[in-house]
Amino acid sequence: MKRIAVLTSGGDAPGMNAAVRAVVRKAIHEGMEVYGINRGYAGMVDGDIFPLDFDSVSNTISRGGTFLYSARYPEFAQLEGQLAGIEQLKKNGIEGVVVVGGDGSYHGAMRLTEHGFPAVGLPGTIDNDIVGTDYTIGFDTAVTTVVDALDKINDTSLSHNRTFVVEVMGRNAGDIALWSGIASGAEYVIAPEFDFSFDEIAKDIEARYKKGYKNAVIVLAEGVMGGNEFAEELKKHGNVGDLRVSILGHIQRGGSPTVRDRVLASRMGVRAVELLKEGIGGVAVGIHNEELVETPILGDGNALFSLDGDKIVVNNPHKADKKLLDVAYDLEH
Ligand code: F6P
Repeated sequence: MKRIAVLTSGGDAPGMNAAVRAVVRKAIHEGMEVYGINRGYAGMVDGDIFPLDFDSVSNTISRGGTFLYSARYPEFAQLEGQLAGIEQLKKNGIEGVVVVGGDGSYHGAMRLTEHGFPAVGLPGTIDNDIVGTDYTIGFDTAVTTVVDALDKINDTSLSHNRTFVVEVMGRNAGDIALWSGIASGAEYVIAPEFDFSFDEIAKDIEARYKKGYKNAVIVLAEGVMGGNEFAEELKKHGNVGDLRVSILGHIQRGGSPTVRDRVLASRMGVRAVELLKEGIGGVAVGIHNEELVETPILGDGNALFSLDGDKIVVNNPHKADKKLLDVAYDLEH
């Protein structure tokens, strides 16, 4: 393979730049040419494709966001979008693609491979919800940002003797809530994977204040419900004190990547090029027990996804670790 391309797709994640940088430099090291595609699959279809050289990725490893820009582009799920993208790839002499993004981005990578363009997926999302990897690029930075925010909220909640509901991102996954809850010493963590009872939480908070505790922080994963809705419901179940809601929002997606994310992204970017060099596509790179692993994106057996008619089925759905919830609970009660 002489010429490959790289794109970032879906929600941006800290470390995406480090992944792109690694792809560019490793490919050049291997004697290949590398092109960047702006705005993910949308840019592919528009032909927003340009050459990258060694220096074009200088000073990017420490930057959050993605200098290739990102977009959500559901149109790529349709054959028409895929063919339009492939036409642009052919026009630019591109033979393989590295896709950095979430599982929607992986489906696009699979389609490209099926149409004869080997594509390799790298898991880039703060949510840590991608199958086939223990950690995604961006998760470590996001939880670090969330913990910083929770530490600050803890200060003010203690000063004013308040109860806080802090809504964190994660889409349908509770990993950001669980990790940040443990790391900040939050009193309650509510994640979509596990049941909870408004009644129990409200009664527990009431008992806390009676015992003389001065505050309470509830970390709520957005996949459960919105923070305001949660607070309104909680109030109906008991005297939960002076209640405030804080929705952290997109600050969780920005910022300079942590060491872990930079190294993970660099390792994965290098592996993606090694795979394409061998002509291997249709796989996603992950990390399992600190070792890089590759898993077929679509198929039977250990593939990440399979098809049920036209429906894409996640073969081993991501599951937040119940042991983490137990740790969070045991250390605060
Ligand atoms: O997937 C990353 C993520 O930040 C999720 O945690 C969140 O639900 C979603 O993206 C928000 O998407 P958008 O920025 O498009 O509103």
